[in-house]
Amino acid sequence: MKYLITYYSKTGNTKRVALDLAENLKADVDEIIDLKDRSGIKGWLLSGRDGMKEYLTEIKTCKDPKDYDVVIVGTPVWGWNSTPAVRTYIDKFKKQFKKVIIFITSGDTKPEKTVASLQKLVDKKIDIFEGWNTKELKDKKIYQEKFDNFCKRIKQ
Ligand SMILES: Cc1cc2nc3c(=O)[nH]c(=O)nc-3n(C[C@H](O)[C@H](O)[C@H](O)COP(=O)(O)O)c2cc1C
Repeated sequence: MKYLITYYSKTGNTKRVALDLAENLKADVDEIIDLKDRSGIKGWLLSGRDGMKEYLTEIKTCKDPKDYDVVIVGTPVWGWNSTPAVRTYIDKFKKQFKKVIIFITSGDTKPEKTVASLQKLVDKKIDIFEGWNTKELKDKKIYQEKFDNFCKRIKQ
């Protein structure tokens, strides 16, 4: 299986999971760059609103998802939703996905809501996803248990 891990990360949590997945699955990695200025307090407020309202944005990526059997997309939660960068990526490339899997990092929002909103964008069923909240990201044992279980489901 040829895997591509594509992720957006503002403060590093989603990047951490992406890089761990890449190592475990021997996958290629592509970081989504959001071209909108999201710096400072103003950027934070804007980002929360853009997440909540399911806005799209302008992005830059490098790899072509059509070259991969499985695309695994990672997003933080913003405003109880996914990020504009990831929504834009899925919207732009969904026709090229053979299979799509989602992973999410959040403060405490459960991943199901975010996945449900992403599911509306893609015609293929997202039947594998996982999420880590702040507490689970900090607890090495819980993080690893969820990570191992996620990798197992991906490889099945
Ligand atoms: C603008 C903004 C909005 C956020 N909104 C939520 C939210 O609604 N629910 C939640 O659980 N976490 C929220 N968070 C926290 C992030 O989802 C969480 O810290 C995530 O792990 C950050 O990922 P990153 O380090 O890859 O950017 C928000 C963070 C930011 C910057």
